[in-house]
Amino acid sequence: MIFKDKDKLSPRYIPKFLPHREEQIKTLKDFLWDSLQNPSDSYLKVLQLIGDVGSGKTVTTVRFGEMFQNEAMKRKIDLKHVYLNPKVHGASRIILYRYLVQEAASEVFSANLNAEELLTELTRHLKRTKKYLLISFDEADYFVRHSKESVIYDLTRLDEISPGEPTNILGVIFTARSTKFYKKLDRAELSTLGTFLIPFNSYSSKEIFDILEARVKEAFRTRVVTTDVLEYISNVIPKPPVNGDIRYALDLLLYSGILASNYRAEAVSLEHVRRVMSAIHPSITDEDIINLSYKGKIVLLAIARALRSAKSPYVSLRDIRSMCSLVCEERKLKAIDEIEEHVQDLADRDIVDIKSLMSIGISKVSTEDLERFLEGLIERIRIDVDNG
Ligand SMILES: Nc1ncnc2c1ncn2[C@@H]1O[C@H](COP(=O)(O)OP(=O)(O)OP(=O)(O)O)[C@@H](O)[C@H]1O
Ligand SMILES: [Mg+2]
Repeated sequence: MIFKDKDKLSPRYIPKFLPHREEQIKTLKDFLWDSLQNPSDSYLKVLQLIGDVGSGKTVTTVRFGEMFQNEAMKRKIDLKHVYLNPKVHGASRIILYRYLVQEAASEVFSANLNAEELLTELTRHLKRTKKYLLISFDEADYFVRHSKESVIYDLTRLDEISPGEPTNILGVIFTARSTKFYKKLDRAELSTLGTFLIPFNSYSSKEIFDILEARVKEAFRTRVVTTDVLEYISNVIPKPPVNGDIRYALDLLLYSGILASNYRAEAVSLEHVRRVMSAIHPSITDEDIINLSYKGKIVLLAIARALRSAKSPYVSLRDIRSMCSLVCEERKLKAIDEIEEHVQDLADRDIVDIKSLMSIGISKVSTEDLERFLEGLIERIRIDVDNG
């Protein structure tokens, strides 16, 4: 048995604790917690969470919203967090406001109301019933790209619906992958959006390791996923072409686990992970290899064979050297002495992964497939060379 609970790897699952997002959650608290002291006098606070794909913005928003709701409950404040996502709920103003009103105050919802009326009815209802809201607007950049409607303007100026007194909407949290969407906003929108921005850096490999380690404990049986496998995945994710998207890491764990299950293996091996990587993220193309020099191909072949015989994700430069001598001997080729340069060139092309001279590996491709592919290729070249 490989899995304890496969669903813990699903994109819909949000862990209770979010390692390495403590700082962002603290900043959110510092900014919004005060509003709970005297909510009826608190003006709307607007903030933005900005960070690249898979940097934990959505999960942080959802968890923070929950914390805020719980804190309000403790203080006997009737507050709800409403999460809006134009990619999920629809990228149009009226659809989003309908959703918002249905979630926040279904009593006043009517399909006959237009967008402005929906917001007015909502704020009036909140006042009347002493209810409060925190709104998260996820994928704001996507919305702005897809729609010319000024939702950002509306949501940042909610307090102006009844000038002079604050509405019962305490905060609006916008989320985007970068600040590039500012270009599509007009000056009024930009100024109400404000400058309070919480950056979400892409996760480092150490951070990814911690996040995955926690997830593995929930999803897999003990000892099924070893530190080796986790380190391997954590090292691959921050680099191109994945660029830190931790979703890919979770996919890798899920599919590697499924593969291990299918083979009735007792644990997830590096080979399982590499297989999945080559299937869901093919990156060393035929063209990449064809573009290499002949010696470059031999060195790559040596790396692949060294990795395979070491049964490890990484081998040392020394291992590569001795495997390279063997390959040259077998093929009756002159020994290659500038191996290090070739390894570096392979790394620059993003085919090889150099952590240190002691640990060189290949990301993304099953070494098994790579070796066979190279063997065939070199064979063809040899015939070319022999014939010509
Ligand atoms: N700190 C964390 N702890 C645990 N899991 C995390 C953490 N950060 C991200 N994840 C996991 O990674 C997945 C992607 O995170 P999330 O959806 O929050 O990224 P995002 O920044 O919103 O990306 P996008 O810009 O593509 O929407 C989540 O489903 C979650 O399972
Ligand atoms: Mg998101």
